[in-house]
Amino acid sequence: MPTLCVVGLQWGDEGKGKVVDLLAEEADIVVRFQGGSNAGHTVVIDGQKFILHILPSGILRPNCLSILGNGVVIDPIQWAAEVDDLQQKGVTVHGRLLVSNRAQVVMPYHKKLDAALEEARGDASLGTTLRGIGPCYVDKVGRLGVRVADLVHPTAFRGVLERTLPAVNRVLHRGFGLPEMTAAEILQEVGSCGDRLRPFVADVAQVLHRALAEEKRVLFEGAQGSLLDVDFGTYPFVTSSNTSVACAASGSGVPPSRIQDVIGVVKAYSTRVGQGPLITELRNETGEKLRQRGGEFGATTGRPRRCGWFDGVVTRYSAMINGVTRLALTKLDVLDHLDTIPVCVGYRLRGTLLQELPADIDSLEHCEPVYRDLPGWLRETSSITEFSELPAPARSYVQAVSDLVGAPIEIISVGRDRRHTIRVP
Ligand code: GDP
Ligand code: IMO
Ligand code: MG
Repeated sequence: MPTLCVVGLQWGDEGKGKVVDLLAEEADIVVRFQGGSNAGHTVVIDGQKFILHILPSGILRPNCLSILGNGVVIDPIQWAAEVDDLQQKGVTVHGRLLVSNRAQVVMPYHKKLDAALEEARGDASLGTTLRGIGPCYVDKVGRLGVRVADLVHPTAFRGVLERTLPAVNRVLHRGFGLPEMTAAEILQEVGSCGDRLRPFVADVAQVLHRALAEEKRVLFEGAQGSLLDVDFGTYPFVTSSNTSVACAASGSGVPPSRIQDVIGVVKAYSTRVGQGPLITELRNETGEKLRQRGGEFGATTGRPRRCGWFDGVVTRYSAMINGVTRLALTKLDVLDHLDTIPVCVGYRLRGTLLQELPADIDSLEHCEPVYRDLPGWLRETSSITEFSELPAPARSYVQAVSDLVGAPIEIISVGRDRRHTIRVP
């Protein structure tokens, strides 16, 4: 690995946290490059569970420097709470984390606007995490954002607030009937977090270029999944960032030519939190069983995740846009109890067979899955550590997923813990 990027190929929660933690053993630096604390990445080490929302999962590996790139949106209050939580659990953060001076700050009013927008959408709400992500990215491209470099310099911060608040308050008050916010209120809410952030702030692009010149190994940690990508996902039921590999470059300052090795993480079935199409969704007892066996409840909001069969159409598309070179397949153990496991090999749309993912939401909502049934293995797999010891039908399932997505599977996860992992020879 000089560089390696890990991305989710479904709707998030594929198990990226676990996979990044495994790969970080061999990395010097782990970089988050997009999203914010809408992410929830779970890592379980010898039974101890950590859920990372904003910090890179590499923070749990003492050998790694962790970096938040310019593409991340940082809620300073959540950031400080997560740092405290980790320190309490015995994880050293000071001296092992850098935050880009160019990253955008999630302001208190972004969270209010997220909730107000969801309410205004009524029945068409998206089911966001209410972490202020959408409004923060809107202000970034609308040139009304506050950056980390501003937040950590009190005079600059006051100046930015004076410049941006008149427009922000128009939206808050005239747009949504919310109380206007004063600079003093905002300074009181997040000013002290600016003081805490200051020692972590760096020109991350410079740091990464120096590290690459020294042949350090850099691991990029994607958040969310490709079907939540603002361009390539099931728009408008997406998040507000590019979740695919292209953003590893624009969100960190490392040129695209340096990021060629991409591991796509796929769960052995599909899940989705929030609204939007999930073509293989199981709204029945089987779906409920997957939810219970897989512990499919949001790591960030606790919401039950919608569950369905593996979808070869969306994952092949995601692998294509990410240039995926290899795959990690997670949660195979969740399927242990099934005697037959359908996988989706195509869609039927108004009588026509499709192999490719339609762009428009109306078509997506009318697509029906075409399944191929694969035999189950009806055996517990969590204690297996060698590929050759997996039951033959489980090996066939792994091969079928690999064929559908179009990339080799290198890692198979059969449980939550670090040790529940099979490396495919
Ligand atoms: P992420 O957002 O992609 O990092 O994934 P999440 O952490 O939100 O969700 C994945 C969930 O599945 C977490 O609770 C993990 O502990 C758990 N998990 C990861 N891999 C496996 C696995 O192979 N088997 C089982 N049973 N659970 C897993
Ligand atoms: P990780 O990194 C699953 C979903 C939300 C909602 C939509 C938009 O743990 O895989 P947002 O708050 O981003 O504006 O919400 O995106 N969503 C996720 N779903 N895993 C995530 O992150 C998610 N981050 C956002 O549920 O449907
Ligand atoms: Mg998650």
